[in-house]
Amino acid sequence: MRKKVTVVGAGHVGATLAQRIAETRLADVVLVDVVEGVPQGKSLDLLEAGPVLGYDSKVTGTNGYEETAGSDVIVITAGLARKPGMSRDDLLAANVNIVKKVAGETGRRSPDAIMIVVTNPMDVMGYVAMRTCGFPRERVIGMGGVLDSGRFRTFIARELGVSVENTHAFVMGGHGDSMVPLPRYSTVAGIPITELMTAEQINRLVERTRNGGAEIVDLLKTGSAYYAPSAATLEMVEAMLLDKKKILPCSVYLEGEYGVKGTFAGVPVKLGAKGVEQVVEIKLSADENAAFMKSVDAVRAGCEKFT
Ligand SMILES: NC(=O)c1ccc[n+]([C@@H]2O[C@H](COP(=O)([O-])OP(=O)(O)OC[C@H]3O[C@@H](n4cnc5c(N)ncnc54)[C@H](O)[C@@H]3O)[C@@H](O)[C@H]2O)c1
Repeated sequence: MRKKVTVVGAGHVGATLAQRIAETRLADVVLVDVVEGVPQGKSLDLLEAGPVLGYDSKVTGTNGYEETAGSDVIVITAGLARKPGMSRDDLLAANVNIVKKVAGETGRRSPDAIMIVVTNPMDVMGYVAMRTCGFPRERVIGMGGVLDSGRFRTFIARELGVSVENTHAFVMGGHGDSMVPLPRYSTVAGIPITELMTAEQINRLVERTRNGGAEIVDLLKTGSAYYAPSAATLEMVEAMLLDKKKILPCSVYLEGEYGVKGTFAGVPVKLGAKGVEQVVEIKLSADENAAFMKSVDAVRAGCEKFT
């Protein structure tokens, strides 16, 4: 039987993710949105691309939740997108109620699913979703680090004139302005970028990575990035549906790892069929640890409002 993925929010990120899932033949997709006709229309459009591209994935659009029952993975992209000049944190209040509703409705109907939270501010929304649906921490995961490290990898590859496939990068901490890209653990063909670039070059790329979301918002004027965010989410969905045991930077609820308890934060984790199968603890220097803790504190302040 084909796997089933529910994507809530049929906007830019959600609909593009549905397209990527269908085109990679990973699963059937149920696309949910509050706007009447939009999930139905986009789903029908995606179905009609199937014969041309050669995929048989069933794509169903709905304004309700009955069709989502028995999903293997639930992805929450419902909410408001960032507007120019608006920080991720401005979105907090607006999106909490949406995420509570969506996590409750989907969690009840798919109690064994793994939930991926994309809605911003993602780390806090992950916490809100976990509290609402009552899933164990292994099965509620925030998407942010894969996107941030993808942006860092893009800039590294372009700076050095090498293939993106040769690059690897780690970004830890909250998915916000305080995120912590880690140059020591970022490599090209296994060589740390600290041996390939000057400190000035690295700082420039780190800054651009931190501002990666805002750079695109400023260019688009309305709406925010969705091609790379949906690609990053697909990598996580694929790692779990195919039980790949892939180590990726994701936001998870920490229970003592890195000396942090009781909040979500971006850390390297092993993703497989059970969701988060391990939190990978890497050694941080004093400076890296200080930046990570500062970022975690910013997320914790958001989470504490909802305990
Ligand atoms: N974590 C990340 O790295 C990352 C990256 C990109 C975008 N985002 C976030 O993802 C979210 C979606 O972004 P987008 O560009 O797709 O926005 P969008 O506005 O295009 O789509 C959001 C969709 O959610 C729907 N929606 C609103 N309330 C809903 C509800 N109660 N139930 C179901 N659907 C509902 C809207 O109708 C809309 O279609 C935003 O919060 C954005 O900030 C996060």
